[in-house]
Amino acid sequence: MTDLGQSIFDILIFVLPLYFGNAAPTILGGGPPIDGGRYWKDGKRILGDGKTIRGFWLAVLVGILIGISLAWIISSLDGVLFGNPSIDIRLEYQEYYTSSIVYSLTSFLNISDVLANPLVLGGVTGGISTLGGMTGDMVGSFIKRRSGIPRGKTFIFLDQLGFLILGMLFIYPIIPWPPLWLAFLVPITFLTHIAANLFGYFTGIQDDPL
Ligand code: CTP
Ligand code: MG
Repeated sequence: MTDLGQSIFDILIFVLPLYFGNAAPTILGGGPPIDGGRYWKDGKRILGDGKTIRGFWLAVLVGILIGISLAWIISSLDGVLFGNPSIDIRLEYQEYYTSSIVYSLTSFLNISDVLANPLVLGGVTGGISTLGGMTGDMVGSFIKRRSGIPRGKTFIFLDQLGFLILGMLFIYPIIPWPPLWLAFLVPITFLTHIAANLFGYFTGIQDDPL
């Protein structure tokens, strides 16, 4: 496998919890809205009924669970897949942890080993990136409502990339990922999101094709 193939694999392992977490509310969200049904000064809803408390926390939970599961699967495969696999099944993002600000702070307090455990780091990175993703999703809805775009209608780029950008920003203090990752993540996230929405549209899950 080429270096590029390996890098793509490493980045995907890192962002999968964020992707799954972000997708979870569409299927299992609902209930009371985060804005409590309140309106902004412009007479429009602060966020709208599409942003619910259940959806928000469910996403974070899914992010944590996928993060732990991936770390567990990959740690278990290590040693099973001896020989010469064409792709190195690894948690590459772990290597960035030791150069992070959180690592420096926790080293100072002598507790950096806690996060160094792959399962803990997997759960924390999955949870924090999804927390950022859901925050980005809310910021997106806030901007949409202020621009007069109703709940559920598309705002191109904001809908597809808002969660990614804030998710990646939130996790940066723990995993200082290389900025070059965005050259892969931005187009792939955009296209995946559009494909998922088209699928949702044709299967009747959502009413806007993008
Ligand atoms: N969802 C939720 N809680 C969240 C985010 C999403 O319950 N915090 C659910 C809602 O049922 C929402 C669906 O997931 O309708 C799709 O999410 P999204 O596309 O982000 O919301 P929209 O309904 O399109 O609303 P908006 O225009 O505000 O983005
Ligand atoms: Mg939407």
